[in-house]
Amino acid sequence: NLHPVILSGGSGTRLWPLSREQYPKQLLALIGDDTMLQQTASRLDGFSGSLPVAAEPIVVCNEDYRFITAEQMRAIGHSACRILLEPIGRNTAPALTLAALSVAGENGDGVLLVMPADHVVRDREAFHRAVSIGLEAAQGGAMVTFGIVPERAETGYGYIRSGSECNPGVCEVVAFVEKPDANTAAEYVASGAYLWNSGLFMVRASIWLKAIGHFNPEMLAACEASLDGAVRDIDFVRIGRGAFEACPSDSIDYAVMEKLSATPELGIAPRVVPMSVGWSDVGAWDTLWALAEKDNAGNAGRGDVVFEGTTDCLVHATSRMVACVGVDGLIVVETPDAVMVAHKDHTQDVKKIVSRLKADN
Ligand code: GDD
Ligand code: MG
Repeated sequence: NLHPVILSGGSGTRLWPLSREQYPKQLLALIGDDTMLQQTASRLDGFSGSLPVAAEPIVVCNEDYRFITAEQMRAIGHSACRILLEPIGRNTAPALTLAALSVAGENGDGVLLVMPADHVVRDREAFHRAVSIGLEAAQGGAMVTFGIVPERAETGYGYIRSGSECNPGVCEVVAFVEKPDANTAAEYVASGAYLWNSGLFMVRASIWLKAIGHFNPEMLAACEASLDGAVRDIDFVRIGRGAFEACPSDSIDYAVMEKLSATPELGIAPRVVPMSVGWSDVGAWDTLWALAEKDNAGNAGRGDVVFEGTTDCLVHATSRMVACVGVDGLIVVETPDAVMVAHKDHTQDVKKIVSRLKADN
């Protein structure tokens, strides 16, 4: 089977004040009526490929969000989904390893489609085509990534240098570089030879376990021990704190992807499926403005919002009416206990406010 694995661990500090520690961005409805988590879980609905999609996705999240996560999944018809609860964050490589172990333990193997819970994919059919194209490579034992044509020299992403096409729509990965510095990113984009890593991966459970066992055996052992000692109740698999604290922290990208091209003897081929699916990583408020449905003057409002002589603004009102008069390019977010006004070109700096607030507390 094809097992959707949803990584739902982020805190989304750049989307303050809507996104909080108590309510991270993947659990919010930022675009449309469903939350980011729900949109991710529905992303494979209607998929018909060479493998059937497992009825229930696997969600890996922090134990603090177990009830709201279960409730949101139940609300979209996934009441039986498997929720793996981490007591602390250890980044994405252990989260995927836990999911792979739980699939491998049950069925021997299966293909995992790893999806971050905080992305938007607008063209679902094109996404299904990309997954179909990558599926054969993944079944054959490759580690499949999905590449996006870069739009700017973003330093928060991974960059994939794609090589020759090995199957229709599937290319070799010559190099994978996670979060390069600004100059390197600019060179990569100018060269035209690189794609952004979308953060989605497709790989057989057994192949991922082989990769992590090779590059970070300590991580594999800690995840195995954590699952062995986990408490399983009807709704959740709870990983014990002690065992998981011993697990090294690392991302899929650094722990495995960067190393695969240089390790041919392992026999796991890194592959990339270039895709054009309306993908965005919903990182900060400017992205939400870009994605939102806007009026003729470029304004988008949610909640009780009024615009007068205003252009290119995004306003989220949750408890009061917000009116904008004669302003341009602002993001206004109103919540019961905090109001933020930011210029659209400075939304990355919102996380600085959050750090300062944390330091003051
Ligand atoms: N369960 C769990 N536990 N999930 C986690 C954890 C964790 O400890 N840490 C992160 N996640 C989730 C996040 O919620 C997000 O959905 C996803 O895993 C990716 O983590 P990020 O921390 O957002 O990664 P990134 O954005 O810095 O980089 C990744 O995504 C980029 C595209 O958005 C990389 O794969 C980059 O190469 C890629 O370009
Ligand atoms: Mg991210």
